[in-house]
Amino acid sequence: MPSTTTAAQSLWLAALPATIYPPPSGERAFDVLVLGGGITGLTTALLLKRRGARVAVVEAGRVGAGVSGNNTAKVTALQSTVLTSIGRTRGAEVADEYAARSLAAVELVDELSTAEGIDCDLERRDAFTVAVRDAELADVEREFEAARRAGLSVEMTAAVDLPYPVAGAVRLPDQVAFHPVKYVSGLAAAVDGDGCRVFERTRALRVTEGRPVQIETTRGALTGDRVVVATHYPIWDRGLYFARMEASRSYCVAARVRGEPTRGMSITTGADTWSYRSAGDLMIVLGKGHPTGARGVDHSCYTAVEKHLREHWDVEQVTHRWSAQDPTPYDHTPMIGGYTPGSTRMYVASGFAKWGLTGGTMAAAILSEQLTGGPGTDVFSPHRFSPRGLPQLARINVKAGVDLVGDRLMPGQISSAADLAPDSAGVVRSGVDRTGVYRDPDGGLHAVSMRCTHLGCLVRFNAAEKSWDCPCHGSRFDVDGEVLEGPAVRPLSRRNPPGE
Ligand SMILES: Cc1cc2nc3c(=O)[nH]c(=O)nc-3n(C[C@H](O)[C@H](O)[C@H](O)COP(=O)(O)OP(=O)(O)OC[C@H]3O[C@@H](n4cnc5c(N)ncnc54)[C@H](O)[C@@H]3O)c2cc1C
Ligand code: FES
Repeated sequence: MPSTTTAAQSLWLAALPATIYPPPSGERAFDVLVLGGGITGLTTALLLKRRGARVAVVEAGRVGAGVSGNNTAKVTALQSTVLTSIGRTRGAEVADEYAARSLAAVELVDELSTAEGIDCDLERRDAFTVAVRDAELADVEREFEAARRAGLSVEMTAAVDLPYPVAGAVRLPDQVAFHPVKYVSGLAAAVDGDGCRVFERTRALRVTEGRPVQIETTRGALTGDRVVVATHYPIWDRGLYFARMEASRSYCVAARVRGEPTRGMSITTGADTWSYRSAGDLMIVLGKGHPTGARGVDHSCYTAVEKHLREHWDVEQVTHRWSAQDPTPYDHTPMIGGYTPGSTRMYVASGFAKWGLTGGTMAAAILSEQLTGGPGTDVFSPHRFSPRGLPQLARINVKAGVDLVGDRLMPGQISSAADLAPDSAGVVRSGVDRTGVYRDPDGGLHAVSMRCTHLGCLVRFNAAEKSWDCPCHGSRFDVDGEVLEGPAVRPLSRRNPPGE
């Protein structure tokens, strides 16, 4: 029987250190301010520190508690059929460069963890892209060809470390499985000190791009000669990132299983994507991805992943479940470089399409070179234009337009908050105005304006996470309207519960 009542917590976040890095109090001027304390920001900060820069990392919450602490923790240059997709939209040479830099990122993770003495359960394992059915074999073979062309030591194999039969797979040996929160916490410890700082519980709010760049935060102003925005989703709209990326969520379940858990790190192609890796005696399965803000999201996403896990492994106990989202750019390559076309002081790294443990590390290597006069590369410049990605670009923006207008025409779901059962949400309509109301399990009511503070789309309730999620560009808010994820930076307005 699926146990969807397991508390939602990432397996990795259980290792979040209790002590926090205090917010800024003394020194406020640095060579580089890095906004965001995930794997992207902290790796960038550490590489810049190694090159002699005085760096400060500014983190809104806790380091490693963003998407970097809510994933399947595979660091690999074999990423489903990503090379085929990049080859299709940007050409084979860009796919080759992406593969080579991803492989270098895998090695960089190993090198940094060794050099900095980070105990993060790092192991070398095989990665697989798997065709479950014969009909999916052609896709997998195409990925094999793209990977081989790019110089990865791949082979086609039928011997996949999974407990059910498959049609075939690409195998890339010697990739990395690690504990992402232990790794990111280790990076933070390596950054903090010798004139460099990590500030937690400090949210960047506004930017004034001058010499130096001034960042207004919830803990006062900070300045940097340069600023790197590594906030997962870029928080300022000036680069029109939201119009070129689409956020999607996925669901993870971890369970203690009887017998040997699967060692290989696999991901299936085909309509239903399943991603697998183990950690000790726990088996982790990811699946049921959907665009952020989709209608009707509830526990069934977790239930379906758990059902799949139970079908193929002998489950003793489900221990953890978590979900998260990542933005995918319209042309399948991450956005790494100057924040706006002319920027020489503000940089960004985003759009990792659920491969950002590798991609964020790759971005850090590129940005640390670009900021210190090294070669870098502009292949991943956020301001490229990819004509072959146009249909996808159009689809993303048409969907946002439909979401912006469509929900305004829908009727309200309840006439009064009194109609709500515990642990449920509804929409009360008054003219053009909409109030989202959630009744918690203790009977308390939480009411907010449903107008997303980013660009005004109407948010939708996510019953799996108890959040209000925006279908247009993926912002998320808690039941009291506080920002969980950008691009929005301001909370939803609180309302009095209608009809109470
Ligand atoms: C379900 C799932 C599974 C995945 N599995 C894998 C995998 O197996 N392998 C892989 O390579 N990738 C995987 N990924 C992708 C990967 O986890 C992410 O791409 C990567 O962690 C992104 O790192 P980041 O540092 O850019 O973002 P984050 O880790 O989210 O860090 C950004 C930080 O910025 C902070 N922040 C936000 N706004 C502000 C502000 N205004 N001021 C200051 N700080 C701010 C946030 O609090 C956060 O800590 C997965 C993604 C998902 C969704
Ligand atoms: S995230 Fe852009 S309108 Fe909501």
